[in-house]
Amino acid sequence: MLTISFEAVGLGFGSQTLFEALSVLLPSGRVTAITGHNGSGKSTFLRLAAKFLAPDRGAVTAREDATVLQKDSFRSRLAMVTPEWKLYPRLTAEENLRFFLGLRGIELSSDEIFSLWERVGLRREDLSGTLAANLSTGMRQRVKLAVLLAAQADFWCLDEPGSNLDPAGLQMLLRETRQAASGGKLILWATNDAREEAAADATIRLPWN
Ligand SMILES: Nc1ncnc2c1ncn2[C@@H]1O[C@H](COP(=O)(O)OP(=O)(O)OP(=O)(O)O)[C@@H](O)[C@H]1O
Ligand SMILES: [Mg+2]
Repeated sequence: MLTISFEAVGLGFGSQTLFEALSVLLPSGRVTAITGHNGSGKSTFLRLAAKFLAPDRGAVTAREDATVLQKDSFRSRLAMVTPEWKLYPRLTAEENLRFFLGLRGIELSSDEIFSLWERVGLRREDLSGTLAANLSTGMRQRVKLAVLLAAQADFWCLDEPGSNLDPAGLQMLLRETRQAASGGKLILWATNDAREEAAADATIRLPWN
């Protein structure tokens, strides 16, 4: 079982203290919401959990059962969906999907891609030949979620994944994350949306200092 533990984590930027002695255990098989106002540190918390950022004090440790995972083996198990991640605008949705999955060594058949589009509520007719730059923002978000679903990662680090999704899109995302958590994935979900928080198994409220 994959777990991530924060042990007395302290982090600040300049004179701003974001986290002081934050200790929390994040288990797999659960959706944990990270909530708090703009600037409270949600995205920073996710970066710490993903080991994209080291704490000033304390430690963030990923373990498989009792074995500590080193950064590289941990990273290969992580999939991150953030507002900063942009699709390549001059590639189509399918080219983007194939490219980002290809980086992980995953190659899908046309049928598998077709069923992925169905899962995230995109119609192939709407996508074929359309450059990512010409998709709507909600459609682009769904393409990113298609990459997530196919990424074979067991730690999902989601930064406001519901942004720009319509109600049906949010339902799809909640259904998929619930199913993924039931299958044993560790899911972190940063949000300001009360409905998304209500659907999580646990909540970490920021600020934490
Ligand atoms: N690399 C950095 N250098 C300096 N300050 C930073 C850095 N990263 C984040 N901050 C600051 O840390 C605070 C928390 O930022 P963060 O992006 O984690 O907040 P957030 O809760 O995700 O906000 P939002 O709801 O707007 O997404 C902000 O004041 C931000 O300016
Ligand atoms: Mg943020």
